[in-house]
Amino acid sequence: MHRFRGAMLIAFFALIDSMTPRPTATRRGSLCGKVRLPATAFAGDVGRRSTPVIRTLCVIATEAVLLLPVSALSQSAVDRAKELPEGNGRDIAAAKCVGCHDASRLVTPGYSHEGWQNVVSRMMKIGVTLTPDQLPVLTDYLARTFPQKPQPAAQLLPGSVEVSFREWAVATAGAFPHDPLATTDGAIWYTGQRASLLGRIDPASGSIREYPTSIPDSGPHGLTEDAAGNIWFTANSAAYVGKLDPKSGAITAYRMPDPKARDPHTPIFDHQGVLWFTVQGANMIGRLVPRTGEVKLVVVPTAHALPYGMVVSSKGVPFFAEFGTNRIGDIDPHSLVIHEHVLPNAGSRPRRLGIGADDIIWYTDYARGYLGRFDPTTGAAKEWASPGGPQSQPYGITVLNGTIWYSESGVRPNTLVRFDPRSAKFQTWAIPSGGGVVRNMMPTHDGQLVLAESGVGKLALVTIK
Ligand code: HEC
Repeated sequence: MHRFRGAMLIAFFALIDSMTPRPTATRRGSLCGKVRLPATAFAGDVGRRSTPVIRTLCVIATEAVLLLPVSALSQSAVDRAKELPEGNGRDIAAAKCVGCHDASRLVTPGYSHEGWQNVVSRMMKIGVTLTPDQLPVLTDYLARTFPQKPQPAAQLLPGSVEVSFREWAVATAGAFPHDPLATTDGAIWYTGQRASLLGRIDPASGSIREYPTSIPDSGPHGLTEDAAGNIWFTANSAAYVGKLDPKSGAITAYRMPDPKARDPHTPIFDHQGVLWFTVQGANMIGRLVPRTGEVKLVVVPTAHALPYGMVVSSKGVPFFAEFGTNRIGDIDPHSLVIHEHVLPNAGSRPRRLGIGADDIIWYTDYARGYLGRFDPTTGAAKEWASPGGPQSQPYGITVLNGTIWYSESGVRPNTLVRFDPRSAKFQTWAIPSGGGVVRNMMPTHDGQLVLAESGVGKLALVTIK
């Protein structure tokens, strides 16, 4: 699980081999040392770059947004070494925090001291070991070296569509509603990831009921509904998929058959009632057959691909975003063979997916600030710069009646974005509460949208007029 680097940390952030163009973007591009980068390498759109020979990249951390492919670790882990900025605690970070992912994960988006405490305790849940002495030194180092960056202002684009927002605070403060679920009975459910619970809001009365998980610290992450009205969720911190019976509150836990599959992530049912899910850090796709309880796991071919958001096509094929690289994968529901489709820009980091009735897949490119359209039939991809720009961090996305809706999580306040694929026009709205990073959204059965606003502890119902 841990991938420790060679002793010689010779480059600050990355020693990049000369074969593959690496996506990099910095705001001011403070560089040092042996750098061979054409100016266009910093334009954000690396697709336009002529094949540069990049040697050693050296960037002032607090000014940089580096987006280096995690997948490259596997290919050239030995050639590539990393060096973190100077400071007390650097050795701990180098030994403990660069391995499963590269140092670019530490740079974006930057955190407050408290924010770093949260991240480190999350990393400890998934396998990082730190002594009581190391913990404060590391946290201080991270907070000092990678502070929270000022977020760009939301770009509000007017248009002809009107929406209204209704927001509810979850019952347990700090529960961190990660994903929303609009159920067929009109309720809004959420996972309270940090309080290990599921919640149900009745939008008519505003009443909320929360269901704590029977297994503590489960870290419920994604959730979905079966035909009988049970709520299924991924226990991201406790290596199981849960089924909650809302009538009794009873939870059935389906354990992962492989201990490596510790972080089930996003669940979705196909048309046969089979549950598919991503297992992000473990780099797997899972299949759970509710009738038998059987769980099968398949490893994604690209190492450190970080399988993330998932959708199912009209033909019953699950597609998933590979957040650790610039790929979208699909898994054959019968043979369980995974195919990966490479997106045109090496810097793309698709995080979540939406799919329409036409089976066109839409992805939010979190790293580059783009909306992407991927046609699985032709393999063609087309991209549009998100209104909030390169740092807008598009995240939760869905397709509703042929129109694309997503949220920009990197702008202040977070936006709700509408994209009409027919006119290729964007319209945006500020989310009243600020959004607090909308990690997922989905349509309701009557054509509205539900959003989980994790950081502000709210759920939103968006009515489209
Ligand atoms: C065992 C593998 C592993 C190690 C070691 C590891 N991480 Fe992570 N890290 C992950 C995975 C998987 C994710 C994505 C899941 C998530 O966001 O919780 C992640 C995500 C992150 C993120 C982005 C998520 C966010 O909330 O911003 C940051 C920042 C991060 N790690 C920092 C660290 C730090 C700091 C360390 C060292 C203390 C570390 N990681 C060590 C696996 C690891």
